[in-house]
Amino acid sequence: MLTELDRPAQIARVLPANPVVAIVGATGAVGVELLNCLEGRNFPVKALKLLASARSAGKTLPFRGQDVVIEELTEASFAGVDVALFSAGSGISKKFAPIAVRAGAIVVDNSSAFRMEANVPLIVPEANEAALSAHQGVIANPNCVAAIATTALAPLHRAHPIRRLSLVTYQAASGAGAAAMEELRLATEAALKGETYPHKVLPHPYAFNFFSHNADMDPETGYNGEESKVVAETRRILSLPELPVGITCIRVPILRAHGMAISVEFDRVVSPEEARALLGAAPGVKVVDDRARNYFPMPVDASGGEDVLVGRLRPDTADPSGKTLAMFVVGDQLLKGAAQNAVQIAERLLPQ
Ligand code: A2P
Repeated sequence: MLTELDRPAQIARVLPANPVVAIVGATGAVGVELLNCLEGRNFPVKALKLLASARSAGKTLPFRGQDVVIEELTEASFAGVDVALFSAGSGISKKFAPIAVRAGAIVVDNSSAFRMEANVPLIVPEANEAALSAHQGVIANPNCVAAIATTALAPLHRAHPIRRLSLVTYQAASGAGAAAMEELRLATEAALKGETYPHKVLPHPYAFNFFSHNADMDPETGYNGEESKVVAETRRILSLPELPVGITCIRVPILRAHGMAISVEFDRVVSPEEARALLGAAPGVKVVDDRARNYFPMPVDASGGEDVLVGRLRPDTADPSGKTLAMFVVGDQLLKGAAQNAVQIAERLLPQ
């Protein structure tokens, strides 16, 4: 990621107890949640720098009772910054993350720019916190589906190695940014009035509709970019580089929580009761599995919450060996899928 010329003499390894924090992309759907997470989780902040495009410069966002003025992101933005949380897209990260590291900051990057680079750890604290210590100035925050899925899978995998994985996802608008969330609202209002909404952000009509994920499709493989990312990142986070994974990613008309139907094969028979017990004791996971009330994880319950909800635990009857469990998982895309996971990473860089 950093060439030898880029590399500063001393890469910051840990944060001071009261760091100067910058948010790159502060006005975006994830950026606003980064602010909320820093505030809600009582992250120590000596000073806060909010960075976005020239379009937003001069506007303000509230933080701990004060209005913080947004500044235009420039190469000079990182002087004195200890930790920079990036969420303004891959292009901005590729250009500005090395500049931030050179200025002495540790970068936690929410884009896909560096996620597969060997010297950039890809971290979900509940799954692979130990990998964090190898960072060289940049830490990658995973794709939202990979973060939510591995939070649920890691406690099971620690007890019984995973051998195969199959996922079908139901992904919210927020994964495509604030503009896609607004498009869902406006398209739904228009549809209820019997009008047609000219969609601009997503490639298909969004109200009362769902479609194959809008990431670029590889015509050779038949898999889209989102699916490829989830496969590669899930393997990396779980340290299972050869894990067979099947996946279908779907965009659904939900504002901010992703759902996923998961089938997971273990190296032995794992009963739903044992899985429930493992998940019930796992940090960041809440078991929602009430067969009597037909009550299972839902976006309305996951939205705005920190926990990944897991339920519908049952043997997958497509595998007669009994080694495969089926489950349904829902997590807030903007929180565990993005901002909260990034702030959790930053918390682990504070002096313990
Ligand atoms: P801005 O609001 O000024 O355009 P989302 O993922 O919700 O679409 O948000 C993208 C974020 O990235 C926003 O905060 C946006 O700021 C920011 N951004 C986009 N382009 C740039 C740029 N050239 N420089 C700095 N920030 C940018």
